[in-house]
Amino acid sequence: MKDNAITILCKSNSRAYDIVIQKNCFYNVIKYLSHFKKYIIICDSNLKRYYGETLLQLITAEKFTCDLISFPAGESNKNLNIFSYLHEQIALRLDRNSCIITLGGGVTGDMGGFVASTYMRGISFIQIPTSLLAMVDSSVGGKLGVNSSIGKNVVGVFNNPEKVLIDPSLLETLPEKYLIDGMAEVIKQAILSGEEYVSFLEKNSVEIFELNLSLLIKLISLSVQYKVNIVEQDERDAGIRKILNYGHTIGHALEETLGYSNISHGFAVALGMNAVNYLAMKCGILSKITFDRVQRLLREYKLPLFLSDLDLRGDSAKILHFLNNDKKNQNDQIVMILLQEIGEPIISDTQTKPQMKEAIEYVVKNRSIS
Ligand SMILES: NC(=O)c1ccc[n+]([C@@H]2O[C@H](COP(=O)([O-])OP(=O)(O)OC[C@H]3O[C@@H](n4cnc5c(N)ncnc54)[C@H](O)[C@@H]3O)[C@@H](O)[C@H]2O)c1
Ligand SMILES: [Zn+2]
Repeated sequence: MKDNAITILCKSNSRAYDIVIQKNCFYNVIKYLSHFKKYIIICDSNLKRYYGETLLQLITAEKFTCDLISFPAGESNKNLNIFSYLHEQIALRLDRNSCIITLGGGVTGDMGGFVASTYMRGISFIQIPTSLLAMVDSSVGGKLGVNSSIGKNVVGVFNNPEKVLIDPSLLETLPEKYLIDGMAEVIKQAILSGEEYVSFLEKNSVEIFELNLSLLIKLISLSVQYKVNIVEQDERDAGIRKILNYGHTIGHALEETLGYSNISHGFAVALGMNAVNYLAMKCGILSKITFDRVQRLLREYKLPLFLSDLDLRGDSAKILHFLNNDKKNQNDQIVMILLQEIGEPIISDTQTKPQMKEAIEYVVKNRSIS
């Protein structure tokens, strides 16, 4: 496969936008900046150091006006205080005909896009995602926002960027733990999408960890195309988009009960997928062969199957209690995405509490299959 640009169009009710996936497109950013005279880069403190200053130089060298605003890196800074700070900073620099460039992982994309969408009722923005998770997941689909005292991502909007520029060569500086974390979402998308993507991941793990750029371009394209297909059918998350929650209902309960600082999102999703697959297998929906296959794939990408893989202990009763009280439940039933086969998820709300308990205990206590 060559390193040529792949452009995926995401159609939406508000605005269709291109997602460009190409090696070194970051360094050719000027090509994509024709409409606006003023730009402002929003990035976190890490990205400022790695790529922010370079981006500023690339843009100002071409006689555009450009500025950079940064905030301290980390999920804890995706909050309303930093959101206000960013608003104040852009108010000093931009007008309605300007454009924001978000440069960073999911935290920067979600918060910077939200800032752009709310400043003077919305100005344009371009997303340059730099983490694997942001490239394959958060920069696509229009969900923007910040965390608040009420919960994660509860303050936000749906809005789309002018463009998304994905340069996989930026992953060279991403710490491996975040690469592995992003792989949990990649594996989720592959399992939901079908055989082609899963076999591709099975064959190429070594080269993917070595950051083979051609393979990364293929991986990112498969993920983006899959997510685009889903969000185009259900922009507002009212129907089929729910299948993207595969592994997330139990994953979220694990994050909440163990504490967000104790388990990463990707690890929680990996455990969540293992738990729901166990549930599906026990209910006779999923074959043991596919169950084992997904476990091997998760292991191949250094993801956990059991809490003990992370030297963590959990309280199954607490997790079950959290699941039962989750506000997203419909009519008191927990909605789960279960796998029938690779590429064949179903939305189910028929599992019983004892079945749920068994699935949770499977990952929490590493209880082997009876
Ligand atoms: N909007 C959506 O649909 C959606 C979907 C999934 C997740 N999210 C959100 O995404 C966020 C998580 O994203 P994330 O994991 O990218 O977090 P992040 O933005 O905090 O990035 C992780 C870390 O990697 C660093 N980093 C990123 N790219 C780098 C690079 N190329 N080189 C060196 N360091 C780099 C960052 O500075 C940070 O320290 C969460 O807030 C989550 O809610 C949103
Ligand atoms: Zn997720």
